[in-house]
Amino acid sequence: MKRPLIAGNWKMNKDLASARKLAADMVGLLAGVEQVEIAVCPAFVHLQAVAEQIKDSNIALGAQDCYWQGDGAFTGEISAAMLADIGCEYVIIGHSERRHVMGEGDELINWKVCKVLSDGLRPILCVGETLDERERDITEPVVTRHVTAGLLNLSAEEVRRVTIAYEPVWAIGTGKTATPEQANDVHALIRGILAEKFGSDVAAEIRIQYGGSVKPDNVKGLMAQPQIDGALVGGASLKANDFEKIVKYHA
Ligand code: PGA
Repeated sequence: MKRPLIAGNWKMNKDLASARKLAADMVGLLAGVEQVEIAVCPAFVHLQAVAEQIKDSNIALGAQDCYWQGDGAFTGEISAAMLADIGCEYVIIGHSERRHVMGEGDELINWKVCKVLSDGLRPILCVGETLDERERDITEPVVTRHVTAGLLNLSAEEVRRVTIAYEPVWAIGTGKTATPEQANDVHALIRGILAEKFGSDVAAEIRIQYGGSVKPDNVKGLMAQPQIDGALVGGASLKANDFEKIVKYHA
């Protein structure tokens, strides 16, 4: 039975001491939670310290990105194997800030997804339309392209280890959340694409998270939707108490 995955994306925030404290606070507040899987994704330079804090807890470690090649002359980059080595289980790939601020395209994102899988980690593949794309009524082709291109060349066995995060770009960090119904509709579209490509059993197993201004006061409505299997949380994951309320949405 799949459990929802609630992951905190800390983005480029915190110094070492506050990252460590945030992780320690979360360990205390979230002890005993079993109904959902929990992950935190701090900046690369804080991974090791956070790994030490969450050791032996119910919180998994994730990174926010990685490179698509192994060891080599790639100055400034971090490999999936390096992330696995320090205890990461998840890697966010293709976040909208990587796509739109750093200019990453579908092909690069697919290479990263493949590398993360081949190095034994679990990718969280982010997909989602911009405000302009929603207004032009091209959400469906854009999301279809992100999902199809992002998962290119994967076997059904590999795709089982992928989590998809649907994050409408217009809802990220803006305080504007998609309504639960709007999100569910796109999740259903994604589920349909997965079923067509990998079969309905595999599609049913894959977790599709929603992301974009998830907060303690809207998480319950989102998680009540049949196609929503978790949340990728930015701003509200920087406060232990807010993240606790999100994780314990059913309380
Ligand atoms: P937000 O970020 O919760 O601050 O909107 C979500 C994300 O970017 O993953």
